[in-house]
Amino acid sequence: MRRPILLRQTVATYPVEPVADDAWLAIAFRAFARLAERGRVRDVLILGTGNGLDALAALEIFDPDALTVTDLFEECLSVARENVLAHLEDGATTEIDFVAGDLLTAVPPTTRVDLVYENLPNIPTTPEVELERGVNTGRFFDATGLDVPERFDAHRLALHWRCLRDAWAHVRPGGGVLTALGGRVPVEVALELHRERGYDPELVAFDVKLQSEPALVLPGYGVAEEATGIEFTFYASEAVEIVAAARASGLDGEDLRGAVSPELARLAISAREAERRLESGQDVAHSVLLIHGRKPG
Ligand SMILES: C[S@@+](CC[C@H](N)C(=O)[O-])C[C@H]1O[C@@H](n2cnc3c(N)ncnc32)[C@H](O)[C@@H]1O
Repeated sequence: MRRPILLRQTVATYPVEPVADDAWLAIAFRAFARLAERGRVRDVLILGTGNGLDALAALEIFDPDALTVTDLFEECLSVARENVLAHLEDGATTEIDFVAGDLLTAVPPTTRVDLVYENLPNIPTTPEVELERGVNTGRFFDATGLDVPERFDAHRLALHWRCLRDAWAHVRPGGGVLTALGGRVPVEVALELHRERGYDPELVAFDVKLQSEPALVLPGYGVAEEATGIEFTFYASEAVEIVAAARASGLDGEDLRGAVSPELARLAISAREAERRLESGQDVAHSVLLIHGRKPG
C-alpha cells in the first residue's frame, strides 16, 4: 500500500497478521500487481473481504470503475465498509457496493466483473466452533448441503469449488477468478479445481509462510488426513527462508515454485507431523498459492 492505513478490527473481522512477513495479503497484492500489469481490470469483486484491506488494495492497484465487496457476515462487512470508506483517496471515482451474503448470492445477477478475488476458508466446521468470530471466519465454513465433487471435498477445497462455479456467470470472458489458497494440497489438484469449472489457471504468486494460529488450524487437517487418507503438506520452518531467498532474485508464481520445489520436497511434513512439532514448540510453515483462473474469451 502506498500510504498508512489505520484499520478498525473487531471480534467479527478476520484479523491482520501481527507480523507483516507472515501476512497473506502481501502475497495476494503481488498477484494483484501482476494482473494489473497485463491489462486494465475495470471491475473487481472481493468475495469474503474480512476487514476491507484487500478491497483497499484493489482500489489502489487496479483503480477500477466498480468494486463490489462481500462477506458472509453482516457485522464483519459493516466494519470492512467503514475501513474502506475511511481511506478513499481524494477524487476517487470508483463506484463501490457492499453486499453481505453466502458466496455470490447477494450480488445482483447483472453484475459483471473482470476479476473476482477470494481467500475462503478450507476446514468444515464442527459444533464447538463459534463460526462468526473473526478468527474462525477465515478458517472454518459450514459445509452442510454443499454438493462438491468428492476429490475436491476430500482435499478441503469445497468452498473454493463452489465459488468458482457460482462466479462463472459474473466473470466477463477474458476476466477471471483469483483463488488464494494455503497450498497444503498438490498444486496440480488446485489447478484442476479451476480447469474442472472451465477456467484456464495460472499460478501468479507463490510463497511459503509460517502457519498462523497453528493450534486452531492443524487439528482440522490432522482429522482430514485420518478421514480421507490424503496426506496434506506442511513444511519445516526453514522453508520460509529458502523461498524468500529465491524470491529476492525476482522470481514469483510458477517460476518461483519450480525453482524451490526440490528443496521444499525435502522439508515437507504431514499435518500429523506438523502437530507433533507444534507440541514440541516448533514453528511449521505452508505454501500459499495465488491461482488466477481465466475465463476463455
Ligand atoms: C481467510 S478470510 C479472508 C479475508 C481477506 N479476504 C483476505 O484475503 O485476507 C475469509 C473471509 O471469507 C468470509 N467467508 C467465509 N465463508 C464465506 C461465504 N460462504 N461467503 C462469503 N464470505 C465468506 C469470512 O467471513 C472471512 O471474512
